Amino acid sequence: MKSVLATAHSNIALVKYWGKRVDADPSLNLPAVGSLSLTLDRLWTETKIEPAAADRFTFDRREEPGKPAAKVFAALDRLWASHHDGARPPCHVESRNHFPTAAGLASSASGFAALTVAAAAAFELPHDARTLSAFARMGSGSAARSIFGGFVRLHRGTRRDGSDCVAEPLLMPGPTWPLALVVIQTTRGPKGVGSTEGMERSRLTAPYYGPWVETSPQDLADAEAALERRDLAALGEVVEHSCFKMHACMLASRPPILYWKPATLAVMEQVWALREAGVPGYITIDAGPHVKVLCAAEHAPTIRDACASLPGVEAVTVCGPGPAASVRVLEGGNA
Ligand code: PMV
Repeated sequence: MKSVLATAHSNIALVKYWGKRVDADPSLNLPAVGSLSLTLDRLWTETKIEPAAADRFTFDRREEPGKPAAKVFAALDRLWASHHDGARPPCHVESRNHFPTAAGLASSASGFAALTVAAAAAFELPHDARTLSAFARMGSGSAARSIFGGFVRLHRGTRRDGSDCVAEPLLMPGPTWPLALVVIQTTRGPKGVGSTEGMERSRLTAPYYGPWVETSPQDLADAEAALERRDLAALGEVVEHSCFKMHACMLASRPPILYWKPATLAVMEQVWALREAGVPGYITIDAGPHVKVLCAAEHAPTIRDACASLPGVEAVTVCGPGPAASVRVLEGGNA
């Protein structure tokens, strides 16, 4: 194997995924709906893999035994077994998050994407990027999208082996369509319901879950059409609809799942007031209290400043579109 260093950027879903398929092996982690995201430049994970005497996982310079390490090495086992016979060589996996502020932003997308491209290079696997996205998905659904840069579509697929549930790059918004995503971190509270548990609760108990799944293909089609036309207002309308439909589904679960804090609502009202005043931004919120606002790059500083001063807002980061995951072999990296 080789010693390698990989980088993958986080992404935020603009058309959301919430819920897993139940007609397939749960270990494949297949989403019940497709999704569409934007990869971000300022939030990324760096992961090094080297041969070692025994498996070891360090995260942000701390030794991580237990459950996180078990998930990491299960992912390495899957990748190794996809191309090699026999036992996987023991590895030291060292992962670091480069996020502007430490707390509160999901890093499983960039984390599993970086781990996947690193392991594929370390084990010299012949897989293409789409296949790697399928492996990343098994660690975390959103990670499949972080293999690619810019706007990315994760296909739901229909095959029961998950081989058509892969991500695909759609468009990298460049200087001709300058876009930003303003990430507004609100109150840090105790961690809410984890996404896998929350999705399962919604599937089993929320009366809106069926309609949520059934209406998702139309949202994806509308978002893709808006992207083709470079129509931010049309895209933004779908983005907010998908977000609030997902949260309606969470709220209608039993017991209810509510990720919002008072500051989350304050930011929403601020963003909508700015829109009324001629500064258009479009809200999306994941399984947590933070708000992300899609806007034209020229409007990002106004939105950032207007939200930064609200009570309960901890930090605001203006992100642009980010690149695909990448990897390089380290000097003297053959083992
Ligand atoms: O990637 P997961 O399994 O943590 O799920 C992500 C779920 C949402 O962030 C709420 C939506 C999405 O599509 O990223």
